[in-house]
Amino acid sequence: MKHTLTAITAAGFVFAATAGAAWAQETPPPLVGDTPAGKKMAEICAACHGVEGISDQPGVPHLSGQHPSYIQAGLLSYKDGHRKGTRMAEVVVGLSKQDIANVAAYYGSLKPFNRIVKRTGALSPAEEDPFATVREATGECAACHGDDGNSDIPGMPSLAGQHVSYLITALKHYQDGVRKDEDMQAFLEGLTDADLEDMAYFYAAMEPKRAEPPTEGDALAGLAVTAPCSGCHADDGNNKDPKTPRLAGLDAEYLVAAAEGYRSGGRNHEVMREALASLRETDIKDMAAFYATSEPKALPVRKPLALAEWAEKCSHCHGAGGHSADPRFPILAGQNEAYLINALKRYHGGERESSMMYAMSFLMGESDIAKLAAFYAGQGAD
Ligand code: HEC
Ligand code: HEC
Ligand code: HEC
Ligand code: HEC
Repeated sequence: MKHTLTAITAAGFVFAATAGAAWAQETPPPLVGDTPAGKKMAEICAACHGVEGISDQPGVPHLSGQHPSYIQAGLLSYKDGHRKGTRMAEVVVGLSKQDIANVAAYYGSLKPFNRIVKRTGALSPAEEDPFATVREATGECAACHGDDGNSDIPGMPSLAGQHVSYLITALKHYQDGVRKDEDMQAFLEGLTDADLEDMAYFYAAMEPKRAEPPTEGDALAGLAVTAPCSGCHADDGNNKDPKTPRLAGLDAEYLVAAAEGYRSGGRNHEVMREALASLRETDIKDMAAFYATSEPKALPVRKPLALAEWAEKCSHCHGAGGHSADPRFPILAGQNEAYLINALKRYHGGERESSMMYAMSFLMGESDIAKLAAFYAGQGAD
C-alpha cells in the first residue's frame, strides 16, 4: 500500500525530529575547496550541466548555488557507487576528493539557481484539495458512474468503495484491450498511469451506496449459490483482498452481465469462468439479487495527501518552497523537473540510498511524484 496517512504523519514527524542527528553521525565534515581550481575543473561539467551550472537538459540537475557540502556528498556517492545508474559514474572516476571539494566550492559560490530560474508557482486553492484535479478529470465519467461513483443507471457498475488495485487493473485492462469495451477504452484514451491511479483512489475513497433493488432473482436463494464465492468475495460481497472486486450493493443487471461476460469468454478470466461454469441462468439472477441487496461497506481508504500537505512535510528539511538554507538539505526550488522526478522515483524504488528520503518517498504514488516535481521546479525567486 503506497499511501497511509497515519504512516506518513508518523514518518514526517519522527524524521523531522531526528534528521539533524542522523546526518551528523553519517557524514564526515566536508573538505574545504579551492574555488578558482574548481572553476577550471567545471569546464568538463558544462557540456551537461550548462554554463555556470544552469542546465538546459532534462534530467540534468542545476548546480549553481547548491549547497557545496551537498554537491560534495553527491559526487562522493557517485564515486563510491551509492548513487548508481547515471552518467555521473564515468565523470567522477578521475576526480580526487580534493577535486570534488574544489568543484563543489565553485558551484556553491555561484548565484543560486532558484534566483535565476524565473517561474514562480504558489499553491493554488485547488492544490489544497487532494481530489480537485480528479473531480474535474472524472467529470465525463459521472454521466454513467455518478458524481461520487454511485451510479443509479441499471446495468452500470458503481465504483464508490471499490478496491484501488482492482480499479487500477480494470482501467488498464480497458486501455490495453484485455477487457473489451470500446466505450470504456475510448473514455480512457490518452490517460497516463498516474491519472488512472488518481481516479482509482478517488472512487475507492467515496462512500458506497446500494443500487436500486433488483427486479429479478431471489436474494435468499442467492445466499446458497454464492456460498462457494465467499472465499474470495466474502460472505456479503465486502471482501478485503484488494485485487478481488467487491460486489456488495452493485447493480443486479451489471452483475448478471459481468457473469455472462466471464461465461461467454467475452471477459477473459479463467478463475471466474470456472467459478461460474456450473451455475444455471436462474442461479446467476439469484446471485445478482443477493449481492445487489447486500449493504456495501465503505473502505478504510485514507484520502491521498494534497500537494500542500506533502509540501508541508518536505519543508521541515528542504525549507519553504524548497528554498533550503540548511547545508544538509539540497535546494529543490527551481531544480530541473525531470531530474526531480528521477530522483524521487529512485528514492522510492530504493535505488538511490537515503534513509530519510526513502521514508519520505515510499508512500508516494506516481502522481504525487509528478505534482511535487512540478511544484518545486516551478518555485523561482521569492
Ligand atoms: C555526460 C553528462 C554529465 C557530465 C559531463 C557531468 N554530469 Fe553531473 N550529472 C549528470 C546527470 C545526468 C546527473 C543526474 C544523475 C542522477 O539522476 O542522479 C548529474 C548529477 C550530478 C550531481 C548531483 C546533483 C544533485 O542535485 O544531487 C552533481 C553534484 C554533479 N552531477 C556534478 C557534476 C560535476 C562537478 C561535473 C564535472 C566534474 C559533472 N557533474 C559532469 C550528467 C553529467
Ligand atoms: C457512457 C457510459 C460510461 C462512461 C461515460 C464511463 N463508463 Fe466506465 N463503465 C461503463 C460500463 C457500461 C461499464 C461496464 C463495462 C463492462 O462490462 O466491462 C463500465 C466499467 C467501468 C469500470 C469497471 C468496473 C468494474 O466493476 O469492473 C471502471 C473502473 C470504469 N468503468 C471507470 C470509468 C471511468 C474512470 C470513466 C471516465 C474516464 C468511465 N468509466 C466512463 C460505462 C461508462
Ligand atoms: C478464487 C477467487 C474467486 C472466486 C472463488 C470467485 N471469484 Fe469472482 N472474482 C474474482 C476476481 C479476482 C475477479 C476480478 C476478475 C477480473 O479482473 O475480471 C472477480 C470478478 C467477479 C465479478 C465481476 C465484478 C465486477 O465488478 O465486474 C463477479 C460478478 C464475480 N466475480 C462473481 C463471482 C461469483 C458469483 C462467484 C462464485 C460463484 C465468484 N465470483 C467466485 C475472484 C473470485
Ligand atoms: C527528514 C528530512 C527530509 C525530508 C522531510 C525530506 N527530505 Fe528530501 N532530502 C533529504 C536529504 C538528507 C537529501 C539528500 C539525500 C541524498 O544524499 O541523496 C534529500 C534529497 C532530496 C532530493 C534530491 C535532490 C537532488 O538535488 O538530488 C529530492 C528531489 C527531495 N529530497 C525531495 C523531497 C520531497 C519532495 C520531500 C517531501 C515529500 C522531501 N524531500 C522531504 C532530507 C529530507
